[in-house]
Amino acid sequence: MNSAIASIRRGLDLGLTHIDTAEMYGSGAAEAIIAKAILGRRDEVFLVSKVLPGNASRRGTLAACEKSLARLQTDRLDCYLLHWRGSHPLEDTIAAFDSLIRDGKILSWGVSNFDVSDLEEVAAIAGAGHPACNQVLYHLQERAIEHAVLPWCRQHGTALVAYTPFGQSTAAFDARTKPGRVLAQIAESHGATARQVALRFLLRHPEVFAIPKAASLNHVEENAGAIRLDLSDAELAKIDAAFARAAPRRGLPMI
Ligand SMILES: NC(=O)c1ccc[n+]([C@@H]2O[C@H](COP(=O)([O-])OP(=O)(O)OC[C@H]3O[C@@H](n4cnc5c(N)ncnc54)[C@H](OP(=O)(O)O)[C@@H]3O)[C@@H](O)[C@H]2O)c1
Repeated sequence: MNSAIASIRRGLDLGLTHIDTAEMYGSGAAEAIIAKAILGRRDEVFLVSKVLPGNASRRGTLAACEKSLARLQTDRLDCYLLHWRGSHPLEDTIAAFDSLIRDGKILSWGVSNFDVSDLEEVAAIAGAGHPACNQVLYHLQERAIEHAVLPWCRQHGTALVAYTPFGQSTAAFDARTKPGRVLAQIAESHGATARQVALRFLLRHPEVFAIPKAASLNHVEENAGAIRLDLSDAELAKIDAAFARAAPRRGLPMI
């Protein structure tokens, strides 16, 4: 726990100010750790939490937000997300989000794991400018969102937040594979690491943010180094070809 706190603080020092959490993570324990990490530094942070779908009724969302605020020891969230779509009507969750905005308890709201049809429903209920973001699975070996979700977000001014940006295994970074070698070679020519190159590739779209989880100080420092990395169009094209995206398929991948 102490290393997680130190890592979050080091991340803030290095400009990694977007902190993502959820009532689900450790049943609230992650929010309590973050409270300790951001103590005295709240204004430096863009703080995001999420309501579980089972709690996302009108009243349930209000109550869940109050509990998250209490655990995070703050008076506001910068963004509050519906973690994934559940059975409560979106109208009710959105009405609660609007009420939380009126009360200054959240500054914006968004969604997570929403496909285009779900995003269309949100926009139809809430109007232009909503949702503020859609947090989805996006990494070099899982580029499904590039087909339709990312274009939708671009068109509607919705930020796309990439979770699990290094993938669910280390396969992409295996320099014994052809794609892994492409990353390694580009990294070497910049004095960078393969993971920094991978992050930079995801961030080539201005509407994309990435939220790698890192509890180790050296990982935080490595990931922050991606901010300074600049890849050429030719390098981006090489990565694009090495990790070619699969054909469109039904359903949005999520973990
Ligand atoms: N909305 C959703 O449904 C959803 C789903 C999944 C995740 N998320 C969000 O996305 C965040 C990231 O998820 P995740 O799946 O990436 O987390 P994760 O798989 O739990 O953790 C990432 C792993 O990568 C390691 N790592 C980080 N930087 C590294 C580096 N530079 N070199 C080598 N290893 C490195 C971390 O190690 P150390 O911890 O030891 O540094 C950790 O083991 C989560 O914390 C959560 O906020 C959202």
